[in-house]
Amino acid sequence: MPDLAELPHCEACALSRSRTRVVIGSGPRAPGLMVVGEAPGRQEDEGGEPFVGRSGQLLVRLISEELGLARDQYFITNVVKCRPPQNRTPRVTEVAACRPWLEAQLAYLAPDRILAVGNVAAAAVFGFTQGIGRTHGRVGHCGGVAGVATYHPAAALRGGPNVVGVMRADLQVLRSLEG
Ligand code: URA
Repeated sequence: MPDLAELPHCEACALSRSRTRVVIGSGPRAPGLMVVGEAPGRQEDEGGEPFVGRSGQLLVRLISEELGLARDQYFITNVVKCRPPQNRTPRVTEVAACRPWLEAQLAYLAPDRILAVGNVAAAAVFGFTQGIGRTHGRVGHCGGVAGVATYHPAAALRGGPNVVGVMRADLQVLRSLEG
């Protein structure tokens, strides 16, 4: 497993050449919850913090309202730690190159539960092969840790109240998991 101290200097894929900084993630160790998104956007690439843009703000609000957790009470990160140019979907090769970092973070942080947001995270974290339209609300496992997949909040910003309602229901599934 790679040494997390090396993550800020990673050059395992070509995204390292266009990024401003590696967006590692933020939050406490041994959290009740680890949230895993897709990849940093422009604001995250510039500031170094995950999920600070509009979609991140929506996600943070939904987690607060449905799970009663403030942002500093859970760990939040992405499958891919560097911004893809023009915010394109990360390539399979980029997800694979970054995966050891996610595994190292899981082992180091030891969260109780995982929330994977969006297609890329649901596939990379839980191994779900169908799209998020089918797998949202489904319980999966990663490294022995149980969790749930839901829509990416960017889809909720596009899709409106219906998608937000589905995300709320998925968060209730997460809440109902024991532990
Ligand atoms: N979208 C993500 O998936 N992650 C971020 O950090 C920001 C936007």
